[in-house]
Formats: sequence, structure tokens, C-alpha cells
Amino acid sequence: MSDPKKLFIKTYGCQMNVYDSERMAEALGPSGYVTTDAPEDADMILLNTCHIREKAAEKVYSELGRLKRLKDANPALKIGVAGCVAQAEGEEIMRRQPLVDLVVGPQSYHRLPALEARTREGSKALDTEFPQEDKFDHLPARPAPARGPTAFLTVQEGCDKFCAFCVVPYTRGAEVSRPAARLMAEARDLVARGVREITLLGQNVNAYHGEGPDGADWSLARLIREMADIDGLARIRFTTSHPNDMDDDLIAAHGDCDKLMPYLHLPVQSGSDRILKAMNRKHTAESYVRLVERIRAARPDLLLSGDFIVGFPGETEADFRDTLALVEAVGYGQAYSFKYSARPGTPAAERAELPEDEKSDRLARLQALLNRQARAAQDAMVGRELRVLFEKPGRLEGQLVGKSEYLHAVHVPGGEVRIGDIARVRIVNSEAHSLSGALV
Ligand code: SAH
Ligand code: SF4
Ligand code: F3S
Repeated sequence: MSDPKKLFIKTYGCQMNVYDSERMAEALGPSGYVTTDAPEDADMILLNTCHIREKAAEKVYSELGRLKRLKDANPALKIGVAGCVAQAEGEEIMRRQPLVDLVVGPQSYHRLPALEARTREGSKALDTEFPQEDKFDHLPARPAPARGPTAFLTVQEGCDKFCAFCVVPYTRGAEVSRPAARLMAEARDLVARGVREITLLGQNVNAYHGEGPDGADWSLARLIREMADIDGLARIRFTTSHPNDMDDDLIAAHGDCDKLMPYLHLPVQSGSDRILKAMNRKHTAESYVRLVERIRAARPDLLLSGDFIVGFPGETEADFRDTLALVEAVGYGQAYSFKYSARPGTPAAERAELPEDEKSDRLARLQALLNRQARAAQDAMVGRELRVLFEKPGRLEGQLVGKSEYLHAVHVPGGEVRIGDIARVRIVNSEAHSLSGALV
């Protein structure tokens, strides 16, 4: 038997790319590949890319530039670009960087083995179609190696919302929900392999409506409730949600489904109705605040996370202050905030941009507020008893690190727990990026 070929995958962007990278590695298994952590040993390097902001997309070209050295040292090395930059820029990538052998869009991963074979014959290979078939159906069944305690599971892909700034509807295509029976089987398989917490993924995960095994349409709430019946599965999370798709049953599930964790990522982007309208978000600041109140009524200790964009075209100082006011009113435990970045092909890219220094100034002011809130939420955990799912060893001898219900990193000095256990921890200290505590 010949030695296995080595595959190195570098993943950028959102969790969906993390999930896709795992599945690409599995798809290339039958072609004789095993994964490696060392790019210099690789026979194939795949960059799984993100197109969401200009900086994210530019990273790909600088990384490709750096890979030239490896390709010079090993001319047999194949270099591929996958993910959202592949989808958005296609052949342009090969024109800009001739060392690229393969370009594959996010909906075509099941065709990777055939594309890889073409590169072995010395041709370039490109596939950025949106095929009719489901890429997940055609990937080989997951092999059975043991896994760590947490896993991502993509349940829904694509987006029909067309926010004016966003490339996702173009790079990932229309919204598609995977059939519930397949997701239940995949969840059971993950649990059999040691997974205790599953995060359900979708660009609009709460818009999930998949075909159930009973023929009925399953909502995300239904899927969560059914998964909660899987023995051995201890925790369920989901991300990312759109405010307009939070239905009553999903709100109720936050109150009555024990395995659903009290953490919700619910992006709002702006607190100004004028800007929300220009962004095509189809909700107001007020309706978002009311929605959060309803979810917190179901689950008072919910830790809320969000996404914000500052400096959207036309945003005035008054609009920006509305965003600060919304953040003050809602209170976030965690958040991501970005300077608006014009993306080719999106409606907002046609509009005049704000000066860079104005965007930077607003981002700094917003982040100061969000960081204060995040720190306060983390500090408020001191003295509480939390349940921690231990995920890995810490930096110090014997130390273990895990996540609380609220997704804060928690470390303990060690003791009678192992990775994969959920244990009670009394929180004693809040540090820069984590909590520390003692086993109860
Ligand atoms: N589907 C998710 C978002 C996916 S993109 C949702 O609707 O919430 C993740 C985040 O990137 C967005 O929430 C937004 O805050 C940010 N983002 C998207 N496009 C952007 C752009 N052109 N410039 C700056 N930030 C952007
Ligand atoms: Fe992008 Fe809006 Fe769709 Fe989210 S809902 S992926 S921000 S278009
Ligand atoms: Fe980026 Fe594509 Fe995810 S653009 S954020 S990798 S869907």
C-alpha cells in the first residue's frame, strides 16, 4: 500500500467553514488523504476562505503568496481554494495567483475527489456551481473515530434575506434546510463518538424548516426538542439567528428545554431605524428590544450576544448614538462589531462610503461600551456555581478548561474530572478572557 497523502486545511470565517473543513477532509479520505497540522509536509493545501469583509478576502491572497515557497520546494504540492472567496471570485483566483490548482465553491465539496484527481493529471480544476443535489448527501458517511466533547452540525445553509451589505446570499446561495432524519442520525452518530454538546449551524439557523421523518415540516424548535431526547447529548446551542425568525416555540424552548443553553447570538447590526431600513433588515430597533424582552421572560438568565456594523453608508452621528442607546438598553454579555466594508455586488456598495477615521472612531466607542458590558457579565459570574463542560487541558499542569452554560471559558486546577465531563464549579475569579473556579 502506498503511503497516505497529507492534507492541510486552513479555515477562515464562520463556524460553518469549520464544519465544512471537517467534511472536506472526510470527502478526501477515500482519495488517500489524511490530515496534517504541518503545511510543509502536505501534498495538498486547501484554504477554506471567507468573503464577508474586504480584509477577510485579502488574507487569502497574502496567504497564497506565502505558499509559493512551499510549492517551489515541492512542485507536486497541490493548492486549492475553497469557501466563499472561491464562490465569489472563481477563475479570477487562478488568474491572480497561478499557483492555485483547484477552486471549489461551498456547495460543491462532494465533487472534491473528482477535482483532486484532475489536478493529479496536471490540469486545473474549478467548480463553483450550485448543483441541485445536496452536498451533504454525497459526502461519505462520517468514519467513526472518537471526537472531542463539542461539535458543530450544519442544519441550514444559505440566506434569502439579502441585507444590503452582505455577500452571504451570493456566496452560499438560497436557503436550504437539511432533512431532519439525516440531522438526527448525524447527531446520534456524534454522540456515539463522544460528543456531549452540539451547536446547530446555519446562516439563518432559526429559519430552519426541514422535512421531518413524519413528513411534517420541522421548525428549529422541533428539531431541538427531538435532539434533546438523545441520551448522552447534554447540551444544545444554535447560531446564527435572525430576529425576524424567532418564533414563539423557539422562544418557549429557551424556557422549557433543559438542554438548550441560556446563550443566544441575535445580531441587530444597528440601533437606528433609518439605517436598519437602508440595510434591508426588515425590523426596527424597537421590535428587536421587545423581542429580547420576550426571550428573557422565557429565560431570565439568558446571556445575549450580537453583531454590529458601524459606518454603514449614510450613518450619521445621531444614527450611531441610536446604536449606543440600543446597546445600553439591551445589555450584551458578548458581541462582535465591525466597520462597514463595501462588498462588490451588494446594493450598499453603490453608495458613498464614510471616511475611514469616522468609522474607526465609532468602532472604538462602540467596542468600549460592549467590552464594559461583556466584562460586567463575566464578573457577575464570580461567586456563582456553574456547570462546566470540560473540553481540554489548560496551560498549567493538571489544569482543565471548559465552557459554562453561558459560553464563558472556565478553568479549574484539576481534580476528579476528565475531558467530556460536566461538573459543578464554584467561580472564584474573573480574568481577562476567562473565569477560574474550584470543583464543588
Ligand atoms: N447570518 C448572520 C450573519 C453572517 S455574517 C446574521 O444575519 O446575523 C456575520 C456578521 O458579519 C454580520 O452579522 C455582520 O455584522 C457582519 N458583516 C456582514 N457583512 C459585512 C460587511 N459588508 N461589512 C462589515 N461587516 C459585515
Ligand atoms: Fe447576511 Fe443578512 Fe443573510 Fe445574515 S441575514 S447572512 S447578514 S444577508
Ligand atoms: Fe465568511 Fe462565507 Fe461564513 S463569507 S462568514 S465563510 S458564510
